[in-house]
Amino acid sequence: MKNSRGPSNIVVYPDKASLVAGAASLIIESGTRAIAERGRFTIALSGGGTPRPVYARLAEAESGQALDWSKVFIFFGDERCVPPSDPGSNFLMAKTVLLDHVPLPPANIFRIRGEDVPEKAAADYEEALRRFFGETGAGFDLVLLGMGENGHTASLFPGLAAVTETRRRVVASYVEVAGMWRITMTPVVINAARQVVFLLSGAGKAEIVRSVLEGPLEPVVLPAQAVRPVSGELRWLLDRPAAARLKAE
Ligand code: 6PG
Repeated sequence: MKNSRGPSNIVVYPDKASLVAGAASLIIESGTRAIAERGRFTIALSGGGTPRPVYARLAEAESGQALDWSKVFIFFGDERCVPPSDPGSNFLMAKTVLLDHVPLPPANIFRIRGEDVPEKAAADYEEALRRFFGETGAGFDLVLLGMGENGHTASLFPGLAAVTETRRRVVASYVEVAGMWRITMTPVVINAARQVVFLLSGAGKAEIVRSVLEGPLEPVVLPAQAVRPVSGELRWLLDRPAAARLKAE
């Protein structure tokens, strides 16, 4: 399916289970290709609930052996400003269902230090990206994203300056609706990725999916619309309920 936003690729799965399986397969395929072509796979994980079963599936025996985890490098698209032991931590979620279950060298995991002063945590993560990718800001092989019902993605929330940031790769913002500070990658680094994949499930997302993909382009109001890879591929993986309000093509 194409949409008015240009060449993004929309894949609709019949239900959540097939969406989860499809997303896990895509990650394994992307990782296998990256390792074959460049000797490593760099991925930025999304937080939230939707990707959790996908990460769990990656950790399962058969798919766990499908990737050479020693060549996989894990980053985070965003983090809540909480300690890594906090139930709200995106790192803790990924650690619990994936990172603790695959043979990943600890040095391959780049955690955003949510326990630090927000501006310092953002600056330190930006420095970690610079050290890893170099000044050119060469992008990730894969950035996974979710989207909230208000159109936020990562921690790019409506009205935040981070949504239109053109220089910094990581910023800290106080998010009123969440009542907390958050650290997020900006569109600068997300749009430099070779592949960006949104994962969405459930009827509750149908209206925002329609607005973002088929409504007016207004990224400050709908930050997911700020995700427009410069040269990489953008793909939306949806289950049928989440895609229900899209024009069938
Ligand atoms: C986070 C995520 C956030 C998430 C959306 C959708 O830190 O929570 O980065 O952007 O992807 O809020 O969350 P669900 O997948 O739980 O609907």
